[in-house]
Amino acid sequence: MSTTVDLRSDTITEPTDEMRLAMAEARLGDDVYGEDPTVTVLEEECAALLGHPAALFVPTGTMGNQIAIHLLTRPGDEVLIEGSGHSYDWELSGMAVISGVQPRVLVGDCGVFEAEGVARAVAERPAIRSRVSLLIAENTHNMAGGKVWPRAATLEIQRICRDRGVALHLDGARLFNAAVASGTPAAELAAGFDTVMVSLSKGLSAPVGSILAGAADVITEARRTRKLLGGGMRQVGVVAAAGRVALGSMIERLAEDHSNARRLADGLTEIDGIELAYGHVDTNIVAVDVGACRLPADQLVVELGARGVACLQTGPTVVRMVTHRGVDADDIDAAVAAAREALG
Ligand SMILES: Cc1ncc(COP(=O)(O)O)c(C=O)c1O
Repeated sequence: MSTTVDLRSDTITEPTDEMRLAMAEARLGDDVYGEDPTVTVLEEECAALLGHPAALFVPTGTMGNQIAIHLLTRPGDEVLIEGSGHSYDWELSGMAVISGVQPRVLVGDCGVFEAEGVARAVAERPAIRSRVSLLIAENTHNMAGGKVWPRAATLEIQRICRDRGVALHLDGARLFNAAVASGTPAAELAAGFDTVMVSLSKGLSAPVGSILAGAADVITEARRTRKLLGGGMRQVGVVAAAGRVALGSMIERLAEDHSNARRLADGLTEIDGIELAYGHVDTNIVAVDVGACRLPADQLVVELGARGVACLQTGPTVVRMVTHRGVDADDIDAAVAAAREALG
């Protein structure tokens, strides 16, 4: 059966008609020379939205994260990150390959660091130990079921790092989901970080692109690092135009994805043996533990696929489903019905 409800990721969203029109009509120039007016406006608009002085359009969130790591560390340093953090677990050891740094994995509660652990990790070290120069926080936290960082935890971690001169990067691939879910402006969630990456190509539905924001001098250097990594993109206003629509008209609708995620979680957890893997559904990611079900997680994913519902296994007993603009409440009900049928 072909897939009718695709819940693998919000990255599968395709551009809206408004985006396609904006792409067709975009004014273009060579962005490597700083001459693409559409890119320049997108960068200015996103910097303002995030409350940072400057911003840079990058092809992927991965490149945005890796540029930040490169700029905020020196070879041999350590980067504090949670064990399922994207830059540690999903970026092909990029921090080691590109920047010569190693991750120091901190235990988190659903992706949120415990203050004590951070304080211990950044405590003064003798010169024979490596230097900790950067902490990466991920909000929302993808692999912890789209967890929104509690504001107090962010402020506490920032205070500890600042006191020790440790820089902070925010992997905000889904920061606008966190903003909408918590009713907090994105700029407030992005405050206190040296650099912030946000994705335009996930729930916001742009086809390509992320933004790295920070201080003007950091972003000037980031532009050089982007070129070094092969991310100088010439007439890229053609995709930046879709990014402008994403920021201008796609943020508030994320609330719909969140309510569909809630509906999905409510339906799934009514099925015997299914429970929430991390105890919450904060945003558009539903992670369920199926360890007590008749089928193991990998087989359940296959059975759902056979019923037209695509999703991913993200742990030995965990299945992840992500809501987005391409699915509505009827699709959610169909997915729940498929799970009920598959589990007999
Ligand atoms: C939390 C997080 N950070 C970074 C990325 C990387 O984004 P990209 O796929 O654009 O490289 C992702 C992608 O899913 C993500 O979930």
